[in-house]
Amino acid sequence: MEKKIDNGREEEQPIPLLTPYKMGPFQLSHRVVLAPLTRQRSYGNVPQPHAALYYSQRTTKGGFLIAEATGVSDTAQGYTDTPGIWTKEHVEAWKPIVDAVHAKGGIIFCQLWHVGRVSNYDAQPNGQAPISSTDKALTPRVQSNSTGFDLEYYSPPRRLRKEEIPNIVNDFRLAAINAIEAGFDGVEIHGAHGYLIEQFMKDEANDRTDEYGGSMENRCRFALEIVEAVSNAIGPLRVGIRLSPFTYFNDSADSNPNALGLYMAEALNKYGILYLHMVDPKLRFNPNFKRHDGSLLPMRKAFKGTFLAAGGYLREDGNEAIAENGADLIAYGRWFLSNPDLPRRFELNAPLTKYDSSTFYISDPVIGYTDYPFLETTTA
Ligand SMILES: Cc1cc2nc3c(=O)[nH]c(=O)nc-3n(C[C@H](O)[C@H](O)[C@H](O)COP(=O)(O)O)c2cc1C
Repeated sequence: MEKKIDNGREEEQPIPLLTPYKMGPFQLSHRVVLAPLTRQRSYGNVPQPHAALYYSQRTTKGGFLIAEATGVSDTAQGYTDTPGIWTKEHVEAWKPIVDAVHAKGGIIFCQLWHVGRVSNYDAQPNGQAPISSTDKALTPRVQSNSTGFDLEYYSPPRRLRKEEIPNIVNDFRLAAINAIEAGFDGVEIHGAHGYLIEQFMKDEANDRTDEYGGSMENRCRFALEIVEAVSNAIGPLRVGIRLSPFTYFNDSADSNPNALGLYMAEALNKYGILYLHMVDPKLRFNPNFKRHDGSLLPMRKAFKGTFLAAGGYLREDGNEAIAENGADLIAYGRWFLSNPDLPRRFELNAPLTKYDSSTFYISDPVIGYTDYPFLETTTA
């Protein structure tokens, strides 16, 4: 509750982000969601015990967490030490992590990921070419890190043949079944940020001439086939999808992101999935990337399930979005990374610890991972 002065009287007002919300079968106690965050600390693609501490630190009773992007198959990876969920070993390794979240009363979904062409020969089985909607390669990207600069090389991809596509859809289906076996409450299909699903959806990346390319309907076919297969396997109320029609990342832009987002929001209604998670057009990781002036509102209105918004939110605009019915839930990335007790800090309107981007992706099991302070220790 927050004190507001109204007509000279002080009144207690609920803080919108901290009000309860019923997301399908899940009773959430507040609306501050942990956004999926790749941390590259799953050595050899196997989730590690330190992740149990990391996620449980960010768990509240009735809080909703989306675990980091997790590879659906051995062709799905493009970065070192990101977790997988395609082997028995992966499933067993996820179990204690999910259990740690459940022990504190949290709800956790696994984000299912295939990077497509955002990969290279070294990350692929037998050094083969990464797969994609296209055979166009990504432009190399210079990325700063703690020690200087890395030039990330992407190997030229191989365009998937039409008859191979059902196998990839099936990989998502099997990964979803594995996620449930590991104890996750559901899965989020990663359809954002220029990875494989977006390589099909967006017209900068998709240059196909078969029924998976060309029209919007054709470009969205792959995504919707995955949604259908995963929903049939584990039930639609355990399925969400993340989309970023406005975000320009990994050489994937669309010439009409408003129409693309709206088409997907409407098409998804047919499957009755639990939620649609949209990245806000205001987000810009890199000032060189284009920023779009679009709005999520038409998609929010069109989609019948729970609507999550993410990207560049803080306490005030998160509260505003909930109060104005622009979203049901707000997912926080960087600020939740550096403030494990973010919902409590929002409740108290307490200061936030600034995140350190130089430790986002280092492989240390503690530094920049589980050593961000809780409020009590900050103020002690
Ligand atoms: C370190 C880091 C890792 C990320 N990893 C993922 C990921 O695995 N999957 C995903 O969909 N988005 C990922 N994102 C994007 C975040 O989920 C989020 O949308 C983004 O940080 C914007 O929200 P924010 O302004 O609250 O940080 C990542 C962002 C950061 C900073």
